[in-house]
Amino acid sequence: MTPDGTMQAMSMPSVAIHGGYLPSPVTQLDKLFPGGGARLHAKLDQLQISGSTKERTAQFLLDALERSGALVPGATVVESTSGNLGMALARQCTQRGYTFVAVVDERANVAAVKTMAAFGARVDMVATPADGNRLRARVQRVEQLLTDVPGAVTTNQYGNTANPSAHAHTTMPELVASLGGPPDHLYVAMSTTGTLLGCQQAIERAGWATRLVGVDAEGSALFGGALRERKLPGLGAGFATNLSQQARPDAIHRISEADMVRGCRLLARREGLLAGASTGAIVAAIGYDLPSLVPGTSVAMLVHDGGGAYLPTVYDDEWVRAEIADAEEAIGVTDAPNPFSCRA
Ligand SMILES: Cc1ncc(COP(=O)(O)O)c(C=O)c1O
Repeated sequence: MTPDGTMQAMSMPSVAIHGGYLPSPVTQLDKLFPGGGARLHAKLDQLQISGSTKERTAQFLLDALERSGALVPGATVVESTSGNLGMALARQCTQRGYTFVAVVDERANVAAVKTMAAFGARVDMVATPADGNRLRARVQRVEQLLTDVPGAVTTNQYGNTANPSAHAHTTMPELVASLGGPPDHLYVAMSTTGTLLGCQQAIERAGWATRLVGVDAEGSALFGGALRERKLPGLGAGFATNLSQQARPDAIHRISEADMVRGCRLLARREGLLAGASTGAIVAAIGYDLPSLVPGTSVAMLVHDGGGAYLPTVYDDEWVRAEIADAEEAIGVTDAPNPFSCRA
């Protein structure tokens, strides 16, 4: 409605299809690193219906299984998830008439687990094994369920090529269309590496010069990393996923959990965007790189999920003090234009 009360034509479709992902907008971040020199843009995938990029992945995984004939009406879908894929699959499975069993571990956000249950999913929580590798324990539980539950199939997000396809066909083309051309640098957080690999495929196919930066967690086993206890879900992996064998980021950052917290809080305070831990890691990675980037260069990042589910962890001072090393520095409010540049 315009100020004089007349209706204004809108470019958005008036009826959206809520069975899968929605195209997401891109916004400029001009307050995050004042005077930083680069033009920063964020693709807001926290606006997906279940709150994350995994809404795209879930749609492509289910579509591929249906096309292959492996998913028949009334079938059971089983998947290991740290939360976001589980919420997206739970939502899309209930719409398509499938039973969904989500195999999670105790680091999954409480809100994510409750959301899956609200969509009618059966949540199967695995105990933390003696070696601490929760991801491996989840994958083993999926294997067991596939044997035990008649007609069960898995979407296998760690090795299924439909996972990167989602991002090659939707995430990257949308981003480039929004920006009017490919960004000079793209920062993507990694877990299965599906998002990064899909963006890489789109970049290679089109011959774009975008430098692709993969953001991982300290303690993740991806790309030869040394496995260690991690407290925050969403990024990193307990083993080198099959998809990661094909992923070739131009650079990799391994970010500490203190820096994830710091990045999330900076984004919230300076840009008014509440995001999850992996997006905080991306903010930190950009902060570290910014001093070496050519002024005027365009930098794009994905906001992989929203921060609501992380209010009891990333945004809770008590939790951060109890669980994260170097907590005081991470939770302190700072006026430094780029609090990461002086620590690089
Ligand atoms: C919170 C979060 N971080 C990171 C990622 C990237 O994960 P992947 O490498 O599995 O695509 C996702 C994907 O949706 C995500 O939801």
